[in-house]
Amino acid sequence: ALVTTKEMFAKALKNDYAVGAFNVNNMEIIQGIVEAAKEEKTSLILQVSAGARKYAKPVYLVKLVEAAILDTDLDIALHLDHGEDFDICKKCVDDGFTSVMIDGSKHPFEENIRLTKEVVEYAHSKGVVVEAELGKLAGIEDNINVDARSATFTVPEEAAEFVEKTGVDSLAVAIGTSHGAYKFKGEPYLDFERLKKIHSLIPDTPLVLHGASTVLPEFVKKCNDYGGDIPGAQGVPEDMIKEAAKHGVCKVNIDTDLRLAMTAEIRKHLAEHPADFDPRKYLGPARDAIKGMVQHKIKNVLNASNI
Ligand code: G3H
Ligand code: 13P
Ligand code: NA
Ligand code: ZN
Repeated sequence: ALVTTKEMFAKALKNDYAVGAFNVNNMEIIQGIVEAAKEEKTSLILQVSAGARKYAKPVYLVKLVEAAILDTDLDIALHLDHGEDFDICKKCVDDGFTSVMIDGSKHPFEENIRLTKEVVEYAHSKGVVVEAELGKLAGIEDNINVDARSATFTVPEEAAEFVEKTGVDSLAVAIGTSHGAYKFKGEPYLDFERLKKIHSLIPDTPLVLHGASTVLPEFVKKCNDYGGDIPGAQGVPEDMIKEAAKHGVCKVNIDTDLRLAMTAEIRKHLAEHPADFDPRKYLGPARDAIKGMVQHKIKNVLNASNI
């Protein structure tokens, strides 16, 4: 069924697992993810960014997710990823999304509170849940000092005040992850002491980890072996994701790993079969690669099989 994240997060919060939130842009991506969730008997969050919504046109992704629900008996939440203003959040609530993110992290603290509260009031009146973000997810330099860290990472006391004042359902935190395939210049580092402090101050609030792709070397290598040029890519090690799921992180956002899996397989297929021009010939294997990767995440990283 099409559900909110309320029950998923309540269970994830009590246990050492997290729900996967995967970004979707087209049919093959949705089908690959859903097939993996089906085999692992898990709940799922499918999320749509503003860019995805524009690329596919709003109605297409909503209808594809509805089709996935007709085709399975999975619980799926349809979530807006990084909504930047009230207007896009309202549009998605009105379109049938069960969850929206208002990302006010670029605004000053008080403005982030005001904007988040406005979205929470509208969404809750329609039975939709809201994720907000506090702290900046910028890529961080190696050996970042403590002062610089406090200026970008989520401040635990502010997180508590923010949740109290906004009534938001879940909170994305900045503890060292960033979006994309180049997350760390040197050794990967996440501020787990900060995460534990945040979780101890707001133990009932599900936390969200953005920028949580691992940038699996297998797919980077395959891209590069078949004509790609993705040097120095590095993501969040799987053990760190597992650890985060033990300290309040209930939602783990993954987009880059989907992109890499899909691109690796398409590159390989086209390189090995230069005479093929039927899109099904390369999009089929790409869909299978997504399925395999997502199944691995659910089972071995998120610990979310059979939930
Ligand atoms: O947060 C970023 C997600 O990976 C979505 O990316 O805005 O290019 O669709 P996008
Ligand atoms: P990645 O770029 O690490 O996949 O993060 C995706 C994300 O946070 C989407 O909101
Ligand atoms: Na958990
Ligand atoms: Zn994100």
